Amino acid sequence: MQTVKKDSLLKKYHLKDHLPKHVAIIMDGNGRWAQKRHLPRIAGHRAGALSIREIVRLAGELGIEALTLYAFSTENWKRPRQEVKLLMQLLKQYLRSEVKELLQNNVRLQTIGNRKDLPKEIQKELEASIRATAHCTGLTLVLALSYSGRADLTNAVKRIAEQVKAKKLDPKKITEETITKALSTGELPEVDYLIRTSGEMRLSNFLLWELAYSEIHITKTLWPDFRTQHFIEALRDFEGRQRRFGGVTNIIGSFTQWAR
Ligand code: IPE
Ligand code: IPE
Ligand code: MG
Repeated sequence: MQTVKKDSLLKKYHLKDHLPKHVAIIMDGNGRWAQKRHLPRIAGHRAGALSIREIVRLAGELGIEALTLYAFSTENWKRPRQEVKLLMQLLKQYLRSEVKELLQNNVRLQTIGNRKDLPKEIQKELEASIRATAHCTGLTLVLALSYSGRADLTNAVKRIAEQVKAKKLDPKKITEETITKALSTGELPEVDYLIRTSGEMRLSNFLLWELAYSEIHITKTLWPDFRTQHFIEALRDFEGRQRRFGGVTNIIGSFTQWAR
Protein backbone atom coordinates (compact mmCIF):
# COMPACT_ATOMS: atom_id res chain seq x y z
CA MET A 1 0.00 0.00 0.00
CA GLN A 2 2.71 2.41 1.14
CA THR A 3 4.98 1.64 -1.83
CA VAL A 4 2.16 1.98 -4.38
CA LYS A 5 1.56 5.47 -3.01
CA LYS A 6 5.30 6.20 -3.05
CA ASP A 7 5.73 4.99 -6.62
CA SER A 8 2.84 7.10 -7.84
CA LEU A 9 4.25 10.17 -6.07
CA LEU A 10 7.73 9.63 -7.53
CA LYS A 11 6.17 9.41 -10.97
CA LYS A 12 3.87 12.37 -10.46
CA TYR A 13 6.71 14.61 -9.30
CA HIS A 14 9.43 13.25 -11.63
CA LEU A 15 11.63 12.07 -8.79
CA LYS A 16 14.26 9.36 -9.33
CA ASP A 17 14.06 7.67 -5.92
CA HIS A 18 17.53 8.85 -4.90
CA LEU A 19 15.98 10.73 -2.04
CA PRO A 20 17.80 11.79 1.13
CA LYS A 21 17.40 9.49 4.13
CA HIS A 22 17.38 12.23 6.74
CA VAL A 23 16.22 15.75 5.94
CA ALA A 24 16.75 18.57 8.44
CA ILE A 25 14.87 21.84 8.03
CA ILE A 26 15.50 25.27 9.55
CA MET A 27 11.93 26.54 9.31
CA ASP A 28 12.58 30.27 9.09
CA GLY A 29 10.64 33.35 8.00
CA ASN A 30 7.36 33.06 9.89
CA GLY A 31 7.72 36.59 11.31
CA ARG A 32 8.46 38.15 7.92
CA TRP A 33 5.53 36.27 6.35
CA ALA A 34 3.20 37.86 8.91
CA GLN A 35 4.84 41.28 8.68
CA LYS A 36 4.28 41.36 4.92
CA ARG A 37 0.58 40.88 5.61
CA HIS A 38 0.46 43.40 8.48
CA LEU A 39 -0.39 40.57 10.84
CA PRO A 40 1.08 39.77 14.27
CA ARG A 41 4.11 37.43 14.21
CA ILE A 42 2.09 34.62 15.77
CA ALA A 43 -0.08 34.51 12.64
CA GLY A 44 3.09 33.54 10.77
CA HIS A 45 3.85 30.78 13.27
CA ARG A 46 0.28 29.51 12.93
CA ALA A 47 0.54 29.39 9.14
CA GLY A 48 3.94 27.69 9.56
CA ALA A 49 2.24 24.86 11.47
CA LEU A 50 0.20 24.10 8.34
CA SER A 51 3.43 23.80 6.33
CA ILE A 52 4.70 21.34 8.94
CA ARG A 53 1.61 19.19 8.51
CA GLU A 54 1.98 19.12 4.73
CA ILE A 55 5.74 18.43 4.68
CA VAL A 56 5.55 15.72 7.36
CA ARG A 57 2.86 13.87 5.45
CA LEU A 58 4.71 14.10 2.15
CA ALA A 59 8.06 13.06 3.66
CA GLY A 60 6.35 9.99 5.11
CA GLU A 61 4.62 9.11 1.86
CA LEU A 62 7.92 9.39 -0.02
CA GLY A 63 9.56 6.94 2.37
CA ILE A 64 12.06 9.42 3.83
CA GLU A 65 13.39 7.84 7.03
CA ALA A 66 13.83 10.89 9.25
CA LEU A 67 12.80 14.55 9.23
CA THR A 68 14.28 16.87 11.83
CA LEU A 69 12.56 20.22 12.19
CA TYR A 70 14.17 23.15 13.98
CA ALA A 71 11.13 24.42 15.85
CA PHE A 72 12.67 26.37 18.75
CA SER A 73 16.32 27.12 19.51
CA THR A 74 17.81 27.85 22.94
CA GLU A 75 18.45 31.36 21.58
CA ASN A 76 14.73 31.77 20.83
CA TRP A 77 14.11 32.09 24.59
CA LYS A 78 15.46 35.64 24.15
CA ARG A 79 12.35 36.63 22.17
CA PRO A 80 9.64 38.80 23.77
CA ARG A 81 7.83 36.92 26.52
CA GLN A 82 4.50 37.16 24.75
CA GLU A 83 5.86 35.58 21.54
CA VAL A 84 7.47 32.73 23.49
CA LYS A 85 4.22 32.15 25.38
CA LEU A 86 2.18 32.06 22.18
CA LEU A 87 4.71 29.76 20.51
CA MET A 88 4.42 27.32 23.41
CA GLN A 89 0.61 27.45 23.18
CA LEU A 90 0.84 26.74 19.48
CA LEU A 91 3.15 23.79 20.13
CA LYS A 92 0.64 22.39 22.60
CA GLN A 93 -2.20 22.79 20.10
CA TYR A 94 -0.08 21.18 17.39
CA LEU A 95 0.67 18.16 19.55
CA ARG A 96 -2.96 17.76 20.57
CA SER A 97 -4.37 18.06 17.08
CA GLU A 98 -1.65 16.22 15.22
CA VAL A 99 -1.22 12.91 17.06
CA LYS A 100 -4.13 11.39 15.16
CA GLU A 101 -2.65 12.50 11.87
CA LEU A 102 0.80 11.17 12.88
CA LEU A 103 -0.70 7.79 13.76
CA GLN A 104 -2.63 7.67 10.49
CA ASN A 105 0.58 8.33 8.60
CA ASN A 106 2.62 5.84 10.68
CA VAL A 107 4.91 8.65 11.91
CA ARG A 108 6.99 8.21 15.06
CA LEU A 109 7.56 11.39 17.04
CA GLN A 110 10.80 12.21 18.87
CA THR A 111 12.47 15.34 20.17
CA ILE A 112 15.99 16.64 20.56
CA GLY A 113 16.99 19.57 22.74
CA ASN A 114 16.49 20.39 26.35
CA ARG A 115 12.92 19.25 26.93
CA LYS A 116 13.19 20.20 30.61
CA ASP A 117 13.34 23.90 29.65
CA LEU A 118 9.81 23.67 28.26
CA PRO A 119 6.68 24.36 30.33
CA LYS A 120 5.60 21.28 32.31
CA GLU A 121 2.32 20.86 30.43
CA ILE A 122 4.18 20.80 27.10
CA GLN A 123 6.59 18.21 28.47
CA LYS A 124 3.62 16.05 29.43
CA GLU A 125 1.97 16.53 26.05
CA LEU A 126 5.23 15.61 24.31
CA GLU A 127 5.72 12.51 26.41
CA ALA A 128 2.17 11.39 25.63
CA SER A 129 2.61 11.95 21.88
CA ILE A 130 5.97 10.19 21.84
CA ARG A 131 4.49 7.23 23.70
CA ALA A 132 1.43 7.10 21.45
CA THR A 133 3.51 6.99 18.27
CA ALA A 134 6.40 4.84 19.56
CA HIS A 135 5.21 1.78 17.60
CA CYS A 136 5.02 3.60 14.25
CA THR A 137 7.44 2.30 11.65
CA GLY A 138 7.30 4.98 8.94
CA LEU A 139 8.91 8.41 9.09
CA THR A 140 10.66 9.47 12.30
CA LEU A 141 9.71 13.08 12.95
CA VAL A 142 12.20 14.81 15.23
CA LEU A 143 11.23 18.17 16.70
CA ALA A 144 14.23 20.22 17.82
CA LEU A 145 12.90 22.10 20.86
CA SER A 146 15.03 24.33 23.03
CA TYR A 147 17.82 22.90 20.92
CA SER A 148 21.40 24.12 20.57
CA GLY A 149 24.03 22.26 18.58
CA ARG A 150 26.80 23.41 20.90
CA ALA A 151 24.84 22.39 24.00
CA ASP A 152 24.22 18.95 22.46
CA LEU A 153 27.95 18.53 21.76
CA THR A 154 28.76 19.70 25.29
CA ASN A 155 26.36 17.11 26.72
CA ALA A 156 27.93 14.42 24.54
CA VAL A 157 31.39 15.35 25.87
CA LYS A 158 30.06 15.14 29.44
CA ARG A 159 28.55 11.71 28.78
CA ILE A 160 31.78 10.43 27.29
CA ALA A 161 33.83 11.90 30.16
CA GLU A 162 31.59 10.10 32.67
CA GLN A 163 32.23 6.81 30.91
CA VAL A 164 35.97 7.44 30.97
CA LYS A 165 35.79 8.36 34.66
CA ALA A 166 33.90 5.14 35.41
CA LYS A 167 36.64 3.28 33.51
CA LYS A 168 34.06 1.99 31.01
CA LEU A 169 35.80 3.70 28.13
CA ASP A 170 39.47 3.98 27.23
CA PRO A 171 40.16 7.55 25.92
CA LYS A 172 42.38 6.04 23.22
CA LYS A 173 39.32 4.20 21.89
CA ILE A 174 37.25 7.36 21.39
CA THR A 175 36.36 7.63 17.70
CA GLU A 176 34.13 9.88 15.60
CA GLU A 177 31.51 7.15 15.97
CA THR A 178 31.69 7.49 19.78
CA ILE A 179 30.81 11.17 19.47
CA THR A 180 28.11 10.61 16.84
CA LYS A 181 26.45 8.04 19.08
CA ALA A 182 26.68 10.25 22.18
CA LEU A 183 24.70 13.03 20.49
CA SER A 184 20.92 13.27 20.84
CA THR A 185 20.65 12.30 17.15
CA GLY A 186 22.86 9.23 17.72
CA GLU A 187 20.25 6.67 16.75
CA LEU A 188 19.10 8.45 13.58
CA PRO A 189 20.46 8.02 10.06
CA GLU A 190 23.15 10.48 8.93
CA VAL A 191 21.65 13.88 8.04
CA ASP A 192 22.18 14.07 4.29
CA TYR A 193 20.13 17.15 3.45
CA LEU A 194 19.66 20.54 5.10
CA ILE A 195 16.97 22.92 3.92
CA ARG A 196 16.70 26.48 5.22
CA THR A 197 13.83 28.72 4.23
CA SER A 198 13.74 32.54 4.05
CA GLY A 199 17.14 32.91 2.43
CA GLU A 200 19.29 33.23 5.55
CA MET A 201 22.78 31.82 5.01
CA ARG A 202 23.62 30.50 8.45
CA LEU A 203 23.29 27.44 10.64
CA SER A 204 21.96 29.24 13.75
CA ASN A 205 23.47 26.59 16.05
CA PHE A 206 21.67 23.66 14.39
CA LEU A 207 23.14 20.12 14.19
CA LEU A 208 26.75 21.33 14.10
CA TRP A 209 28.41 17.91 14.06
CA GLU A 210 25.72 16.15 12.04
CA LEU A 211 25.80 18.57 9.09
CA ALA A 212 29.50 17.96 8.33
CA TYR A 213 28.78 16.46 4.89
CA SER A 214 25.13 17.29 4.29
CA GLU A 215 24.02 18.84 1.05
CA ILE A 216 22.48 22.27 1.62
CA HIS A 217 19.46 23.88 -0.02
CA ILE A 218 18.60 27.47 0.82
CA THR A 219 15.42 28.94 -0.58
CA LYS A 220 14.07 32.48 -0.29
CA THR A 221 10.57 31.03 0.23
CA LEU A 222 9.32 31.85 3.72
CA TRP A 223 8.39 28.84 5.85
CA PRO A 224 4.58 29.41 5.83
CA ASP A 225 4.74 29.46 2.01
CA PHE A 226 6.91 26.32 1.85
CA ARG A 227 4.52 23.59 0.75
CA THR A 228 4.49 20.41 -1.36
CA GLN A 229 5.83 22.00 -4.54
CA HIS A 230 8.76 23.64 -2.75
CA PHE A 231 9.70 20.44 -0.95
CA ILE A 232 9.56 18.52 -4.21
CA GLU A 233 11.80 21.14 -5.87
CA ALA A 234 14.27 20.82 -2.98
CA LEU A 235 14.27 17.01 -3.34
CA ARG A 236 14.84 17.28 -7.08
CA ASP A 237 17.75 19.59 -6.36
CA PHE A 238 19.19 16.91 -4.02
CA GLU A 239 18.80 14.20 -6.64
CA GLY A 240 20.86 16.29 -9.05
CA ARG A 241 23.79 16.69 -6.67
CA GLN A 242 27.10 14.83 -6.95
CA ARG A 243 28.13 13.82 -3.46
CA ARG A 244 31.89 13.45 -3.51
CA PHE A 245 32.84 13.46 0.19
CA GLY A 246 36.25 14.86 -0.70
CA GLY A 247 36.81 12.21 -3.38
CA VAL A 248 36.83 12.49 -7.17
CA THR A 249 33.82 10.52 -8.43
CA ASN A 250 31.98 11.51 -11.60
CA ILE A 251 34.82 13.62 -13.04
CA ILE A 252 35.22 11.93 -16.42
CA GLY A 253 33.82 14.86 -18.41
CA SER A 254 35.59 17.55 -16.48
CA PHE A 255 38.91 15.65 -16.34
CA THR A 256 39.18 15.34 -20.13
CA GLN A 257 38.40 19.04 -20.30
CA TRP A 258 41.31 19.90 -17.98
CA ALA A 259 43.69 17.55 -19.81
CA ARG A 260 43.18 19.35 -23.09
C1 IPE B 1 10.98 30.81 12.48
O1 IPE B 1 10.48 32.02 12.04
C2 IPE B 1 10.24 30.26 13.65
C3 IPE B 1 10.99 30.27 14.91
C4 IPE B 1 12.23 30.63 15.04
C5 IPE B 1 10.27 29.85 16.10
P1 IPE B 1 10.95 33.40 12.67
O2 IPE B 1 10.07 33.73 13.82
O3 IPE B 1 12.41 33.36 12.98
O4 IPE B 1 10.66 34.39 11.47
P2 IPE B 1 11.55 35.62 11.01
O5 IPE B 1 12.94 35.13 10.79
O6 IPE B 1 11.48 36.64 12.10
O7 IPE B 1 10.91 36.08 9.76
C1 IPE C 1 16.54 29.48 13.69
O1 IPE C 1 15.84 30.58 13.27
C2 IPE C 1 15.76 28.73 14.73
C3 IPE C 1 14.53 28.11 14.25
C4 IPE C 1 14.12 28.06 13.02
C5 IPE C 1 13.75 27.48 15.27
P1 IPE C 1 16.06 32.02 13.93
O2 IPE C 1 15.25 32.98 13.15
O3 IPE C 1 15.85 31.96 15.39
O4 IPE C 1 17.63 32.24 13.68
P2 IPE C 1 18.46 33.56 13.40
O5 IPE C 1 18.13 34.52 14.49
O6 IPE C 1 18.04 34.04 12.05
O7 IPE C 1 19.88 33.10 13.41
MG1 MG D 1 14.06 33.84 11.89
